[in-house]
Amino acid sequence: MPSLSRAVEPLAQRAISRILDVPADSVDPVVRDSPFADVQLNAALALARAHGRNPFELAELIAAELSDGGPIAEAYASRPGYVNIVASDAWLAGQVEAMEVPETLAPTGRHVVIDYSSPNVAKEMHVGHLRTTVVGDALARMREWRGDRVTRQNHIGDWGTPFGMLIEHYLELTSAGEEVDQLTTAPNEFYQAARARFDSDPDFAARARSRVVALQAGEPETIEHWTRLTAESKKYFTRVYRTLGISLTDDDLAGESSYNAELADLCDELERRGLARMSEGALCAFPAGFTGRDGQPAALIIRKSDGGYGYATTDLATIRHRAQTLHADLAIYVIGSPQAMHLEMVWQVAREAGWLPPTTEPVHVKIGNVLGADNKMLRTRSGDSVKLFDLLDATVERARTVLSETRAFDSPEDLDRAARIIGIGAVKYADLSVGHETEYVFDLDRMVAQTGNTAPYLQYAVRRIRSLVERVRAGAPAAADARVTLGLPEERALALALLSFEDAALTAADKLEPHRLCAYLFDLAQRFSSFYDAAPVGGAASAELRESRLLLCEQTERVLVRGLTLLGIDTPSQM
Ligand code: ARG
Repeated sequence: MPSLSRAVEPLAQRAISRILDVPADSVDPVVRDSPFADVQLNAALALARAHGRNPFELAELIAAELSDGGPIAEAYASRPGYVNIVASDAWLAGQVEAMEVPETLAPTGRHVVIDYSSPNVAKEMHVGHLRTTVVGDALARMREWRGDRVTRQNHIGDWGTPFGMLIEHYLELTSAGEEVDQLTTAPNEFYQAARARFDSDPDFAARARSRVVALQAGEPETIEHWTRLTAESKKYFTRVYRTLGISLTDDDLAGESSYNAELADLCDELERRGLARMSEGALCAFPAGFTGRDGQPAALIIRKSDGGYGYATTDLATIRHRAQTLHADLAIYVIGSPQAMHLEMVWQVAREAGWLPPTTEPVHVKIGNVLGADNKMLRTRSGDSVKLFDLLDATVERARTVLSETRAFDSPEDLDRAARIIGIGAVKYADLSVGHETEYVFDLDRMVAQTGNTAPYLQYAVRRIRSLVERVRAGAPAAADARVTLGLPEERALALALLSFEDAALTAADKLEPHRLCAYLFDLAQRFSSFYDAAPVGGAASAELRESRLLLCEQTERVLVRGLTLLGIDTPSQM
């Protein structure tokens, strides 16, 4: 369903083409939302300059060509050279009546690979991981909706030297018959305990060191221990994903370790082809266009002096895999902003090696920091990083408080369920509603508030529409073919916004900016609110008008629910 702007665009193209005698598809009519009319056409200024015409006269000619029929009720020029367009009520009404809100659009044939979440084994997921997880998941859903084939890649940190001490600690615990649920409940404590053993007991440290060697050599028993250990961590990740309603499954795991077998050859190949050379004992690539602070070419270390491989080596393997094996058209990395330079260097090396052809476009979706009330990185009072589950529990608790103060629930279970959906929705929406690169302050009270650009505000709008429709419908059965009439300005404004859903969601999906969809949904909910205040539904003056308003309500509900679903946010059946 096109928005008014999209519907006007081809008409404007044709009008301009007739007036200036240019091919229609060569014209960008620049149709914009406008505070002065329903939409405004802004192309006349530039066109007049290019064709030596007077801008206002050209705008008048275009307006005259546009004036009749279809979506346009009225078109008139304003100075210096704009064309203001008022939509036809009959057209708007017909569009709203026919509007469908499909689960997915037509397939695009494009393959999009999205790297997101990517937490580390035996480490607590922190708010940074929460944000890459939430934003990445929304992008995956939005891209699937718009018709792309999406492959999720959860690039978990499941390899490296710390695994020697982690495995040894794990063995000590399990051989003493202790349950190791710490890995799934408090992974940081497990990690710190392993670290403490390593630092205090030389025997343990020696065992840990030879364990790393065995791990890297692929010694079967060690691999078995490693597999069990990482499996515990995966349980923790899954618990986080299920709690948050994140669409990642075990099938999407593509951890650092999955590239182990190719790293040696990858380094050899780069060295052989002169794309990497030894520098201070390490094998380094020097991608074109990158210089360090000293003005010298910046090095990307691909094999450390101890022979080990690091983050850069595995990331070279990821981009090669995503381009050469998965044939991604778009390879999206949802990762913290500070890693921008790392990724650019990796991609440049891959280009120089011929692994990243122009047919695969790599994109870094930069994720900004989440701050505490002190405007510094979010930490607990004791200075530790905040545990994800503590954070989620706190949000759900706050949502419960707000809910129990404002509404009555049939049962404590209903209150629980609503608090969970609202609390989780609130956390996710806080991550999604600001630009993904913007830093923001984690503020529970603002997140769970039922006013402002928050999840609860939108969820409450859905809830309000549902109970309104149920209430009115209880007294009057649905008419088979409801017709929409747009008498009040609030009805018109709502209809215009409804038609813009697809445009807004497409723009958000294509620009990889979920906050644009949030802004659209917030605007829609506000327009619904004005409509609700101005236009009685149950008490409408006639049965026809009641049906018309009911249909506006139902379409609004559909759009809000679809939009929230694309963001990965549920709506409670009671709130
Ligand atoms: N595991 C990393 C971290 O916790 C994030 C990995 C992101 N993905 C990648 N391909 N580098 O910071």
